[in-house]
Amino acid sequence: MAATSATSLSIGSAAAVNNKTNLIAHTKPHCVRVNTRNSLPSFSGLRSSNSHSLSMETHSSFLGKETSSALRGSLAPESMKRSQSLNHQLSPQASYKVAILGANGGIGQPLSLLIKMSPLVSALHLYDIANVKGVAADLSHCNTPSQVLDFTGPAEMGNSLKGVNVVVIPAGVPRKPGMTRDDLFNINAGIVKTLVEAVADNCPDAFIQIISNPVNSTVPIAAEVLKKKGVYNPKKLFGVTTLDVVRANTFVAQKKNLKLIDVDVPVIGGHAGITILPLLSKTKPSVSFTDQEVEELTVRIQNAGTEVVEAKAGAGSATLSMAYAAARFVESSLRALDGDGDVYECSFIDSDLTDLPFFASRVKLGKNGVEEVISSDFHGLTEYEQKGLEALKPELKASIEKGITFANKQSIAA
Ligand SMILES: NC(=O)c1ccc[n+]([C@@H]2O[C@H](COP(=O)([O-])OP(=O)(O)OC[C@H]3O[C@@H](n4cnc5c(N)ncnc54)[C@H](O)[C@@H]3O)[C@@H](O)[C@H]2O)c1
Repeated sequence: MAATSATSLSIGSAAAVNNKTNLIAHTKPHCVRVNTRNSLPSFSGLRSSNSHSLSMETHSSFLGKETSSALRGSLAPESMKRSQSLNHQLSPQASYKVAILGANGGIGQPLSLLIKMSPLVSALHLYDIANVKGVAADLSHCNTPSQVLDFTGPAEMGNSLKGVNVVVIPAGVPRKPGMTRDDLFNINAGIVKTLVEAVADNCPDAFIQIISNPVNSTVPIAAEVLKKKGVYNPKKLFGVTTLDVVRANTFVAQKKNLKLIDVDVPVIGGHAGITILPLLSKTKPSVSFTDQEVEELTVRIQNAGTEVVEAKAGAGSATLSMAYAAARFVESSLRALDGDGDVYECSFIDSDLTDLPFFASRVKLGKNGVEEVISSDFHGLTEYEQKGLEALKPELKASIEKGITFANKQSIAA
């Protein structure tokens, strides 16, 4: 590999925690910029030799430096900007426990790998109904801080959740060509219900992050389950819609020839078809689109999942980009738990922004979950976005109600 003057290590820079130099206290979790005369293989770990000097960067590899600053600039109150956000320091020791339910799957495995790379994670609990021992053994050989534990089958599910701070749920069946996300409902609704019941019993205080589709219905199901168990905290239940943001950022950067890592597009509404509404007028950095570009980009973002389903031709839906997106959301949550006062993500949550009980929007994450819903994204919507917002509501409402009805019927039957 050619010599390079600056190599960025993303969350894989567990090296920053592993090596016993005093670099640790000065290193952000997301991006360590390494100035070295020689090339540095990303995951080999940093050595404390004199030939390497490190400087701290305060940005996330998932979000992008300038986007991050742009968000700070536009969303964070002045006092917060001054006092804490830019100076947030990584805890010297990894201390959070993350459980992945459905860890053996197409999303679960790469997601487990990405989370294993986080310097903020002390324990990674892998749960699946399929034997997950092999995945855990494999991952456990990576020289990053977290201990990897495997749990297989319902008898071990409770233990997989004890003491956990963040639970991620990618368990379920993926889409095949010709299926909509709603077609998955009958199988995945039951899976999510069972898993969230166990979460309620074993780690009710955890952040719960639902990937299993249809998210527009599985999140309301989770909320009903938690309510029935008397442990519902709306600030800690999240539908993971990060992939919509990741896709929007990628497609806009490509279309407008922008530096990929700098682009941020908020995506609101829900997580299926027309309920996915990218707010292109709120793109950062500010960029103008023709009406035709808005139409093409919006439709592509809404149907991007189908692009992957069709390309995989029966082998499932997005797994790698989904794992990347979910890892970004988990890492953001861990940063928030760790006291970073500058964490913003879009998520499908219990919301009073609209007349619907659940809605995806940008939120500020804090130690207690959703700290603030960012309503300013709704100001000054274009006519196209306003129409899209009105058009998505009936479909999203129906999906939410379907989830609530399912959860209630199930509990009557039980
Ligand atoms: N939110 C999003 O943006 C998004 C994107 C892509 C896929 N998805 C959804 O994620 C889910 C998983 O997709 P995938 O491609 O990883 O599927 P997959 O079939 O490859 O993996 C699913 C895993 O879940 C496990 N599982 C099934 N039932 C379980 C249960 N009761 N308890 C624990 N584990 C269980 C399976 O054994 C398997 O390992 C699907 O519902 C898919 O639609 C969501």
